[in-house]
Parts: sequence; structure tokens; C-alpha cells
Amino acid sequence: MTAHKKLFIKTYGCQMNVYDSERMEEAMLKAGYEPTSTPDDADMILLNTCHIREKAAEKVYSELGRFKGLKEEKPDLKIGVAGCVAQAEGAEIVRRQPLVDLVVGPQSYHRLAELVAKADTGAKALDTDFPAEDKFEHLSRRPKARRGPTAFLTVQEGCDKFCAFCVVPYTRGAEVSRPAARVLEEARDLVDRGVREVTLLGQNVNAYHGAGTDGDWTLARLVRELARVDGLERIRYTTSHPNDMGDDLIAAHAEVEELMPYLHLPVQSGSDRILKRMNRQHTAESYLRLIEKIRAARPDILMSGDFIVGFPEETEEDFQATLDLVEAVGYGYAYSFKYSTRPGTPAAERPQVGADEADDRLQRLQALITRQQREIQDAMVGRQVKVLFEKAGRKPGQMVGKSEYLHAVHVDAPDLQPGELRDVEIVEAGANSLAGRLV
Ligand code: SAH
Ligand code: SF4
Ligand code: F3S
Repeated sequence: MTAHKKLFIKTYGCQMNVYDSERMEEAMLKAGYEPTSTPDDADMILLNTCHIREKAAEKVYSELGRFKGLKEEKPDLKIGVAGCVAQAEGAEIVRRQPLVDLVVGPQSYHRLAELVAKADTGAKALDTDFPAEDKFEHLSRRPKARRGPTAFLTVQEGCDKFCAFCVVPYTRGAEVSRPAARVLEEARDLVDRGVREVTLLGQNVNAYHGAGTDGDWTLARLVRELARVDGLERIRYTTSHPNDMGDDLIAAHAEVEELMPYLHLPVQSGSDRILKRMNRQHTAESYLRLIEKIRAARPDILMSGDFIVGFPEETEEDFQATLDLVEAVGYGYAYSFKYSTRPGTPAAERPQVGADEADDRLQRLQALITRQQREIQDAMVGRQVKVLFEKAGRKPGQMVGKSEYLHAVHVDAPDLQPGELRDVEIVEAGANSLAGRLV
């Protein structure tokens, strides 16, 4: 019997990278690698990287530097860089850090085994093409291993929106949707393996337009078909763009019980002047009207968003408009970032906001968001929610899971199993989770 080689994957960035890492791990099983949870005993280390902000990209190089000792001890150790830094920087990575053996961009993961074979010969293996074939067609056959109750499922990848600050259209390429039949097949397979909730992923997931049985399907149509998969109890999707929030998708939120009342709908800024400079193609007003419409269809929906502060030329007045928009929406969750200059994007060339100013705005925005989140969590106390339990909690006898609204909920119930969906009354709201009791 030949001993398996060991693969260690470290994942940065968004949920799509988490999904891709799972696919790569499964592809590498076929190439004779088994996963390990530490770099120390690995034969191959793969960093699945993120390029969205400068900090995220720089982290990769400091992490790579740390593997120097390991590589000296074990000269056969191979080190690879995948993900969005691989796509953005390509061969430059090997120039900057020569201990890297392999660089693979997000659209070339189906060639990973070949690349590893090439790296094993001692050559540098690089692939950052945007090939014509669909990587998922070559990555979708998986062993029937059991899984936890929740899973990601990529349905769409890439972006054609070209927001002026963003690298994603360059690192993930043009928008592509997977055929509906493939998505349904993968969802059924996940359910067979124990999954009860899927989160459909796409950089612009609500722009989904995959081939269906009768022409292209929208995301709403896909959601309706997925809701009919036996045993699939919950459907979520992320991330959406306001301009692709079609009426049929809004209607699905009113009509499809399996579609969870949670929507991540980034707006980035509340200032029309800045939105225009960002090339967002929507206004603060149109975003607010859209949310009204969504709430008319599904009054309890919990809204989530992303914000950038300190975008080039943002004034205090522009920033105030962002605070006003946040006040008007009432976010259950929101993620805010200081603008980070990304080489090659249009905004990189423009006059930048001072670092202190941007820090100050970020703090003020985050204080407001935290207050809103807390208010919404506090208002859950006394309410009954449904929780999909996922795993044991921190304290003995505790189980934790997520409510419809994506709040983490823990209960004292030692006999509960992961995958159980139960009615829970919320009794207390903490900073990061809610305490409940089974009804
Ligand atoms: N639609 C994508 C967005 C990816 S980026 C998705 O699938 O999630 C996630 C968030 O990062 C964006 O919504 C934006 O708020 C933030 N972001 C993107 N580029 C940025 C930059 N250059 N500086 C700071 N934040 C940025
Ligand atoms: Fe980036 Fe804008 Fe596309 Fe989102 S919609 S991935 S922020 S370019
Ligand atoms: Fe980062 Fe690429 Fe995702 S840049 S956020 S890993 S699409």
C-alpha cells in the first residue's frame, strides 16, 4: 500500500474561496493526497488567497515567509498559491517569493492535479488562464462522504459590474452561471450526504442566468426548483447587487417557505455623488425604495450590507449621507471597510482621503452599525425562531445553530443532534449570539 501524501489548505477571503477549497481538496483526493489540519506534516501547502484589500493580499506573503523553515527541513514540500492573489499577480508571486512552486488562478482548479505533477518534477507550475471549459464540470464529481448540515454551493462566478474600487472582475473574470441541472444535481447530492441548508454563492448571485430546461433560468426560478428538493429545508444566497434584484426574486421571498428571510445587499455608500464615482449604477434613493419593496413582500426580512468609507474624494457631507442611509435601513448585520487602493482599478488614480479621516469615519460608522445590530438582536428576546443546529457549543451540553435570520443561537440540550431543525424561544441576547430554549 502506498502512503498518502498530505495536503494542507489555508483559505482566506470570501465564501467562494471556502467552496473552492473544498473542491480542490476533493480533486486532490483523486491525485492521492489526503487532507491534514496542520502545515507541519504536509507534503503540499496550498494558500487559497484573497486580493480584495491590500492587507488581505500582503498577508499571503508574510504567511509564505513563515514556511521557509519547513521547506528547508523538507525539500520535497511543495507550496502553492491559489485564489485571487494568484490570478492578480501570477508569475510575480514566484519572483517575489521563490519558495512558491505552483500558482493557480480560480478558473483553472480543474488543472490542479496536472500542475502538482509538474511541480513534483521540480519545475515551477503556473496557470492563470481563463479557459473556455467549465472548471466545475471537471470538479463536480465527489466521493459520498458525510457532511455537516450546511453547505455552500457556487451557482455563478465572476462580475461584469466593474465598480471603480474592486478587483473581482479582474480576478474572477466575466460573469458565468452554471447550468441549473448541475446545481440541482449537486444540491441533491449534498442532501444525500446530510446537508439541510445550502447557501447559493456568486459574486453577483442574483444576476444568475443559467441554462434551464426551458431557456435561461433566473435565480428566483432556481430557488423555486431547489425548494422542491426533498430534504432541503433552507436556501440562502449571497452576494446580491441592488440592480439585479428582480421582482420575481422579491416575490420568491414572499412565497417560498424554504427561502430564508435574510438578504445581504451591499450598497457601499449613501452619497449619490460617491455612488456615481464608484460606478454603482444606483442611487441611495433607488436602494431605499428597493428595500421598501422587499420588506413589503417579506416584512421580517433581516437586511445586511457592505460599506466602504474614505473612497477617493469622499467628503464629510458624503459620509453623513452614508450614516443617514444606515439609519434609514436598520441593518441586522453590516460590514464596513476602509477604502483600500487596488492597482489597476479606476479609483486607484484618484485623490485619496487622508488615513486619519478615513479611520475616524470607519469608527463612527461601525459604532452606528454595532448599535443597530444590538437593537435588532435585543428585539429577538421573547420571539420564537427556528434553529438549524450545527454543532456543540462552547459550554458542555450546549448546542449552537442559526436562526432564519442567521443569528447564532445556543440552547442547553445535550441530546440534540447536528442537523435538527427545532423551534426555539429566545431568552437572552448577548454580544455575538442569542440564548434560547427549545419549545
Ligand atoms: N459582490 C462581491 C463583493 C466582493 S467584495 C461578493 O460576492 O461578495 C466584498 C466587499 O468588500 C464589497 O462589498 C466592498 O464593500 C468591499 N471592497 C471591495 N473592494 C474594496 C476596496 N478596494 N477597498 C475596501 N473595500 C472593498
Ligand atoms: Fe466588485 Fe462591484 Fe462586482 Fe461586487 S458588483 S464584485 S463590488 S465589481
Ligand atoms: Fe477576495 Fe477573490 Fe473573494 S478577492 S473576496 S477571494 S472573490
